[in-house]
Amino acid sequence: MADAASPAHPIKLIALAASLRRDSLNRRLLTQAVLAARALGASVDVLDFRDVIFPAYDGDLQVAEGIPASVQRLGDLVLGSDGMLLASPEYNFSMPGNLKNTIDWLSRIRPSVVRDRWGFLLSASNGRVGGNRGLWHLRVPLESMGMMIFPDMYSLAQAGEAFAEDGTLRDPTQHERLAVMMEQFCGAVRKARA
Ligand code: FNR
Repeated sequence: MADAASPAHPIKLIALAASLRRDSLNRRLLTQAVLAARALGASVDVLDFRDVIFPAYDGDLQVAEGIPASVQRLGDLVLGSDGMLLASPEYNFSMPGNLKNTIDWLSRIRPSVVRDRWGFLLSASNGRVGGNRGLWHLRVPLESMGMMIFPDMYSLAQAGEAFAEDGTLRDPTQHERLAVMMEQFCGAVRKARA
């Protein structure tokens, strides 16, 4: 097993697929990324998007009641991590509205919980570009909040055909590409932490 920090203190990641769909392609892709990161020695906590769906952002609600407990819980998980793996569907060439809502709520927590945390973005779609256009939109708010989004992103095209029965990627080239990117990402997080 490769060293994802030191054996005693592996890098700590959280992982989230921003889809509520039971058979989400993005969740399936995220699972493969999580397995690759764990094989490198990283500790990865997988979150369920159902647990992080908040009320629509409302400034009056924030003034009246403060940050909702569910938002703060997610914020604490981000803060307690070195970074996150985030798989997002592409909706209308951009990110899903409920993911943007999550990001907007998180951005209201002071002090920032995302600054200096690392992020790796993934997408899966049946389309030919695998949802990659949405990831470029997703980078913008996350980077504006001080998150360090890894330059390379992983987008899986024709994702409905891409997974074998056991959940692995059928195409060995795609499998290898994901493994290499995870190695580079975990290496960058490890170096930053050191
Ligand atoms: C989509 N889909 C889609 N796909 C794509 O490649 N580009 C796009 O712009 C869009 N736009 C879009 C908008 C809306 C509102 C929906 C519901 C869907 C298809 C989408 O990528 C596909 O349904 C994925 O399978 C969704 O991800 P999960 O739920 O499988 O992870």
